[in-house]
Amino acid sequence: MPEHILAIKGVSKTFTVGGPLTGRHYVHAVRDVSLSVDKGDVVGIVGESGSGKTTLSQLVLGLLDPTEGSILLEGRNVSEYSRLNLAKLIQPVFQNPYSSLNPRQCIETIISAPLRVHGIGDRASRRKEAIRLMEAVGLPQRLHSRYPVQLSGGQRQRVAIARALILKPRILVCDEPTSALDVSVQAQILNLLDELKREFDLTYLLISHNLAVVEHMSTKVAVMYQGEKVEEAKATDIFDRPQHPYTKLLLNAILLPHRGGKKPADNLAPAPKSADRTGALA
Ligand SMILES: Nc1ncnc2c1ncn2[C@@H]1O[C@H](COP(=O)(O)OP(=O)(O)O)[C@@H](O)[C@H]1O
Ligand SMILES: [Mg+2]
Repeated sequence: MPEHILAIKGVSKTFTVGGPLTGRHYVHAVRDVSLSVDKGDVVGIVGESGSGKTTLSQLVLGLLDPTEGSILLEGRNVSEYSRLNLAKLIQPVFQNPYSSLNPRQCIETIISAPLRVHGIGDRASRRKEAIRLMEAVGLPQRLHSRYPVQLSGGQRQRVAIARALILKPRILVCDEPTSALDVSVQAQILNLLDELKREFDLTYLLISHNLAVVEHMSTKVAVMYQGEKVEEAKATDIFDRPQHPYTKLLLNAILLPHRGGKKPADNLAPAPKSADRTGALA
């Protein structure tokens, strides 16, 4: 039986905050979460702010160590990977393309940074690869020598995505990839992720506080609430037959006027999957 590309097994993460003077206490950011992801899946992780989504994504990326449980990538514990092998397997795309790009580097330098850091290729080949990725993410080549400040929010997120792809990873962890963007740009970035998934044969963890964002492309959705996974189902089932009261609340939160305003969530019509749903991504 082929193993899961990603398996989160009984993972908890507890942060200790405060000190001797203020009193120490524990924040149970992630509690006993298990989740498996198969190759080609788009697993949406949704939940309100503070529900543990970012902590979970950082555990998966090996940026944090679990307090309990284990995270397996292609069957091996994430902690056993070398930096390069991990980077070639899984890459993050963060929420804020303003803070995740070095303002003093030009676009081409930013996109090719992972190749440089790992000593892959020479200057010319790195440059060629960066330009190829710019094209793949829909950035005009003429922007290669510009700086982040000269780009729009959407273009910056495209730069971040190109950088994430340059080592040809198999998994992208997108933590609120559209939350910092104008509503009109959000659907463009989601559509781009959708296209890239096919072109590069990717698997996604797509994290958002907004169910409407993951509705667009998820095959499976996990709902987080106060650090716990309270529901997991095929995307269509979550939208048609939410089980947990909190999932119903999240669904109600995305009932916007074009969907009939105060209609109860279980009467939701199937959503069209196209860019014209931009309005639902607010
Ligand atoms: N480094 C940290 N130290 C202490 N508490 C943290 C740390 N990171 C996250 N938390 C806490 O863990 C909980 C989950 O946070 P987070 O994973 O960022 O949630 P989300 O991404 O869903 O908003 C929150 O209560 C947050 O304050
Ligand atoms: Mg977060």
